[in-house]
Amino acid sequence: MFFEPSLLKGRAALVTGGGTGICRGIALGFAAHGCDVAILSRRAEHLEPTCRDIEARGVRALALVADVRDPSAVEARVAKAAAAFGRLDIVVNGAAGNFLCLAENLSPNGFGAVIDIDLKGTFHVSKAALPYLKERGGVILNISATLHYLGTPAQLHVSAAKAGIDALTRNLAAEWGRYGVRVNAVAPGPIAETEGVRRLLVGRARELATGRTPLGRLGTIDDVVRASLFLCSDAASFITGAILVVDGGLWLNSARILE
Ligand code: COA
Repeated sequence: MFFEPSLLKGRAALVTGGGTGICRGIALGFAAHGCDVAILSRRAEHLEPTCRDIEARGVRALALVADVRDPSAVEARVAKAAAAFGRLDIVVNGAAGNFLCLAENLSPNGFGAVIDIDLKGTFHVSKAALPYLKERGGVILNISATLHYLGTPAQLHVSAAKAGIDALTRNLAAEWGRYGVRVNAVAPGPIAETEGVRRLLVGRARELATGRTPLGRLGTIDDVVRASLFLCSDAASFITGAILVVDGGLWLNSARILE
């Protein structure tokens, strides 16, 4: 790991969507830095293997099954994590749903499912965690995206949800700073090795994205883990309301029309 391996020593985190993909990487990165980690998913089968990998890093792990769309289930699971670890310092809102669908074919329920999981789920978890985060000052990290900076075909539902997450990040940062709670986001571009890129970056899209990225490659899970560790550690103690883009410059380069 890039940093000295003690950035989060003695702390406790809850990572939604932490069983797989980028958020599994974040859970393991936090564990490697001395943080106890609870991971939450609606699918139990995603949780156990990652919990074993967390424990292998010498910290405590907790598997929590819940759908982030259910506020009372969320409240109960957040309370369980805080009770199990005796504290809660960090929350990562990573639970998300996605599929490719043009707006003209998108059903009200399809649009609503992604808004409910990504945007409303982020709100439910953050609100449920606030009483615990307030105890010592804490950190919320939301997983955003860059899709909504421009116009991304077949991603209207996710773009709208992530734009909402950016707004929520800034508003909560402004409201909860008085409690010593920092609220930030990371906005990954396409990250190789993830289910999202395997399913969503189809045909020539992967090649095109790589070619257009100034840093010349797709991102890795570790790229996002390092940014997340920074924002959730004391190294970022005066940073709140920030949305840190981790995309090798891809979205900026999308504006180039010459050449
Ligand atoms: N294209 C168009 N609409 C789709 C769709 C697709 N590929 N996948 C789901 N939907 C629509 C469904 O048709 C349904 O709308 P309807 O009732 O009008 O038919 C609505 O979305 C809800 O789908 P459903 O599967 O019943 O809901 P769910 O709550 O079980 O799951 C998702 C919702 C978004 C999580 C689901 O698409 C999913 O499981 N995706 C794969 C996992 C994932 O997204 N991981 C994140 C990787 S970035």
